[in-house]
Amino acid sequence: MPVSHANSAAAVSADDRAAADAAKQKFIAQFGEGGRIHVIRAPGRVNLIGEHTDYNDGLVLPMAIEPTVMIACRVREDSSVRLASTAFPEDVVAFSLDSAIVPGEPKWANYGRGVAAELKGAGIPLVGMDALLDNTLPLGGGLSSSAAIEIGTGLAMLTLAGTEMDADRLALICQKAEHEFAKVPCGIMDQTIVASGRPGHAMLFDCRSGAKSFVKLEPGDLRVVIANTMVHHELGSSEYGKRRAQCEEGVAYFKKAHPGVSIKALRDVTVKMIADAAGSLDEIILKRCRHVVTEIARALEAASALTKANYERAGELMRESHASLRDDYEVSCPELDFLAAEAGKMRGVYGARMTGGGFGGCIVALAQPRAVEPLTEHLVRMYQEKFGITPNVFATTATAGASVIE
Ligand code: GLA
Repeated sequence: MPVSHANSAAAVSADDRAAADAAKQKFIAQFGEGGRIHVIRAPGRVNLIGEHTDYNDGLVLPMAIEPTVMIACRVREDSSVRLASTAFPEDVVAFSLDSAIVPGEPKWANYGRGVAAELKGAGIPLVGMDALLDNTLPLGGGLSSSAAIEIGTGLAMLTLAGTEMDADRLALICQKAEHEFAKVPCGIMDQTIVASGRPGHAMLFDCRSGAKSFVKLEPGDLRVVIANTMVHHELGSSEYGKRRAQCEEGVAYFKKAHPGVSIKALRDVTVKMIADAAGSLDEIILKRCRHVVTEIARALEAASALTKANYERAGELMRESHASLRDDYEVSCPELDFLAAEAGKMRGVYGARMTGGGFGGCIVALAQPRAVEPLTEHLVRMYQEKFGITPNVFATTATAGASVIE
């Protein structure tokens, strides 16, 4: 069932309550006292498996995580929007809802500008607002801070306008904002999980049909550990678009090679078709397609393995996913390869892999609860020794998607 956000009374954890209060105080320091101040919580996300499959109509298995973006906001009497961020204390960005909204500097404000423009474009009446963004989620760290800012800003605008919106529709509007204003041709995974995550569960999301099923992560058995490489290779943004184009090239080939089969996306291509294409399809395109087709199968199998508490198999699929992203899709980097390999050496770690778009960002590991401490220590020590950088390593539980805290 689609969930409407306004009125959603998600249970608020003590940490979220404290973070919301802190955001409210910072809002008052920035914009002054008075009026009704709302606070929206939008979580980051980590994808357990199913990488670079969302824009191929495939399956993904992400969960919402504890680090968040909090947005404190208040309605204004005129139709301007003013945005402040504790991550960029030097700017307050202002624009009017009455004129055309366009991307510009500073770049961080393009998510807010884009969401306002797309909501307006969808015919949603908006009201002026002051808003302050405050994160515990690292920006640009591969945990979807951009989707969290988009969904959070969207929810802030809808709340102040007194409008409810289905979470999937909001996700699509925010994805469009990312395409048009941040110029990233992303899929729909990040916005969907940020909007619709469920506490204690990962979400198996079918990016073709929109169907969601939730996979319980047993807290007594499992911990999800994230290790941030703290690097972000510039290459990533241009390579993302290239991978999408290569997938489309693959689809065009398979359509021609199998005129009798309805092939609309790599979701419709089988492992056998890939094997048969060897020798006639360009080798790079073949490798890209092989990753996507096998990764979709792995995401489905991992969801079923987790449901059956077969953590060994889920971990093995994560290792295969990493190898496929590294060798066939070629979106990993030495830092991610190193952390994934080191995590995999530890007792009590079922599996580890890069997560997100690649070229930096984070790895995700599935581990037994007692393995968390030794794993954290090991990764910090080894990574420091090898790269001279301290990685941010933390365990997280799956949390709820974005909600209005007050
Ligand atoms: C980024 C995009 C997502 C998805 C992942 C790769 O996070 O925003 O849509 O494509 O990369 O799985």
